[in-house]
Amino acid sequence: MAYHITKAVIPAAGLGTRFLPATKAMPKEMLPVVDKPAIQYVVEEAVSAGLNDVLMVTGRNKYALENHFDRVYELEATLENKGDHAKLEKVRASTNIADIHYFRQGDPRGLGHAVLQARMHVGHEPFAVLLGDDLIDERDPLLQKMIQEQQKRNASIVALMEVDPDQIHLYGAASIETTDDDDVVKVLGLVEKPSKESAPSNLAIIGRYVLKPEIFPILQHTAPGKGGEVQLTDALQEMAGATWTGGVYGVVFRGKRYDTGDKVDYLKAIVELASGRDDLGPELKPWLKQFAAGLD
Ligand code: G1P
Repeated sequence: MAYHITKAVIPAAGLGTRFLPATKAMPKEMLPVVDKPAIQYVVEEAVSAGLNDVLMVTGRNKYALENHFDRVYELEATLENKGDHAKLEKVRASTNIADIHYFRQGDPRGLGHAVLQARMHVGHEPFAVLLGDDLIDERDPLLQKMIQEQQKRNASIVALMEVDPDQIHLYGAASIETTDDDDVVKVLGLVEKPSKESAPSNLAIIGRYVLKPEIFPILQHTAPGKGGEVQLTDALQEMAGATWTGGVYGVVFRGKRYDTGDKVDYLKAIVELASGRDDLGPELKPWLKQFAAGLD
């Protein structure tokens, strides 16, 4: 029986050490990408794919996330009194967006461990996992396509993207077999952050997954792997080889993705997104051209 997928799990317990000192007292998920915190883009993506039930797996120092998705009466009252409806809209946009639940991970023992914390909340249905460091252009229906494939194939689905072979050591890498759909591959195996030489391909997992609940018993016995952490990739590797799980397929993404977990990519994301916006682009682009012309 195909379940209607409604749940998204967003691991958000990472320490964000790459962005210190900005992330000393603020979660990295709250870093603004233009004028919205990164996490809001991710929740919006989940909601536009029909996932209205969001579980954030958080840790210490993450209160700002809960505050961001809650009401702020004083601010709303002030804006209401001023009649500033445009700003009021912006404040409320993140309040009524979805049913958001929070679970504290406690011991941060890796992505696989974070996903395992969602077990009770998710129950026996397939569900999506969205990693906050990856932003997918909102015009791209990647998650919708992954959900469709999950329903069609009754398998778990990962998002894959071709990366420069020099970059594959930063990702989970897949060995695959083609299917009759150009955008879908069968995943034969997965390895977390391989060296360039040992990588099975340059197809990298980007942070979107639609998983069957069979992942949970597997995660429960998955031993710590790369970096001493329980890796979701390792559990998926086991799934790919076990027929009782339905196997793993990959949806190959060819659209625009921004990695806000890396400082330079974060800056690029801001410039690209702002340039494309009607309210900022017209002023920003001529300045950018001038600025670029003056660079060595
Ligand atoms: C995680 C996963 C990795 C995946 C990546 C996508 O790694 O473990 O398999 O390719 O996300 O962004 P992280 O970037 O959290 O180290």
